[in-house]
Amino acid sequence: MTVPATTTTTTTSSSQQSKPGKLPGRELYNTIGKPKTIVAPMVDQSELAWRILSRKYGADLCYTPMFHARLFVTSDKYRQSMFNDQDGDPKYDRPLVVQFCANDPEILLQAAKLVENQCDAVDLNLGCPQGIAKKGKYGSFLMDDWGLVHSLIKKLHDNLSIPVTAKIRVYDDYDKSLQYAQMVLDAGAQFLTVHGRTREMKGQNTGLANWKILKHLRDKLPQDQVFFANGNILYSSDLQRCQDETNCDAVMSAEGNLYNPGVFCTKTDDIDMQFPRVDKILRQYFEIVKSVDPHPASRHSMKSHFFKLMHEFLNVRTELRPMIGKTSVHSSLDEWEKIVEEVERIVKEEIRTLPNFNDLDVVIDGELQIWGGLYKTVPYWRCQPYFRKVDGERQNTRLLKVAGENDLMVTSNEAKEKLLKRELEGEGEGDEGGSVKKKQAT
Ligand SMILES: Cc1cc2nc3c(=O)[nH]c(=O)nc-3n(C[C@H](O)[C@H](O)[C@H](O)COP(=O)(O)O)c2cc1C
Repeated sequence: MTVPATTTTTTTSSSQQSKPGKLPGRELYNTIGKPKTIVAPMVDQSELAWRILSRKYGADLCYTPMFHARLFVTSDKYRQSMFNDQDGDPKYDRPLVVQFCANDPEILLQAAKLVENQCDAVDLNLGCPQGIAKKGKYGSFLMDDWGLVHSLIKKLHDNLSIPVTAKIRVYDDYDKSLQYAQMVLDAGAQFLTVHGRTREMKGQNTGLANWKILKHLRDKLPQDQVFFANGNILYSSDLQRCQDETNCDAVMSAEGNLYNPGVFCTKTDDIDMQFPRVDKILRQYFEIVKSVDPHPASRHSMKSHFFKLMHEFLNVRTELRPMIGKTSVHSSLDEWEKIVEEVERIVKEEIRTLPNFNDLDVVIDGELQIWGGLYKTVPYWRCQPYFRKVDGERQNTRLLKVAGENDLMVTSNEAKEKLLKRELEGEGEGDEGGSVKKKQAT
């Protein structure tokens, strides 16, 4: 098909006009409470229980994991395991955007119709850089076929009762990125999320997201366009910086949210909300999982969430790793309860025995780092971001596997030693390692 000519404009684009009875982007944005903080779509990770937890810690808007549109339409089992009647419940799971990957407009529409009464918008994934996306021709590989991108979005814009939105990556070329974004908007996308990395920035080439290109796009696109920035959020202090530097409407976080749901909390004087204690947040999360059970996606993701919430804690209390490592999707809630109780016991013991626990239970600002924020020293019993890397030294295979040239930063020597020790002892990968690989690929 022919893609309409793209122009750089500061006025509202024609496809952004509302259809009768359907909210255009800015009105939708206002209607759902002008969200500032967003849980990113994350395969196997932004499922119902996690969204409920994240909202309690300050997430204003959540995206579901990416669902495969064709499977969603053709397999009841797949659909039921990913998204059921509890998802999108106005009492605890709104506002919500449901994300699909697709390459067939008709199938995408059929999938979207199945959720249109349970969410506020449907998003098209245009960012997945995985090999599987290349093979299936979806996600970021649609960046090679603008005509198809246009027809996928337009199909939903013309036929769905709720708005369509899109999440894109950028090209190295600023102008091409702008033309691409403009085309996505012209097709009818009402919110635009831009992940400031190119398709090639994945795995060991992940590197830093480029906020300058986000700012460039934001400034050149129609002023009223709802624009979400994504990438490089490690602490809640990065949220305001991102908003200031990109001029975005809201900031989306994926990995920062997974390791610390408190990343969205901006109350700087509330350490329990900004850097929740692992025993407390684990209990809270587990109680949420139980409250939505049976919800297959929420049960399925527990292991990975346990590992990530306690990432630093497990570096110190390594004895817990095998306990979590041996769980599976078939583990009973009683088995999970034992793990939660053990974490509670350990932290309680730490509080009782550590001299000056209260003096140690503080967050200390460190040096300015390459991503633009200050490194913070956080007690190991509190959630904190995961720093991959490093200072150019060849460390060990695990670090080399996950680290990009200009990846986020330096771990302490002590942490490096621990990682190295775990690597040598063959511990510590398990489900979490799998998730890291998955993360890099989405
Ligand atoms: C575990 C994981 C799963 C992801 N799954 C998806 C997905 O389903 N759809 C999507 O558009 N992006 C996905 N992503 C990419 C994120 O949404 C986000 O664009 C990327 O991680 C950059 O944000 P961050 O720097 O805050 O992590 C995933 C990322 C992670 C870490």
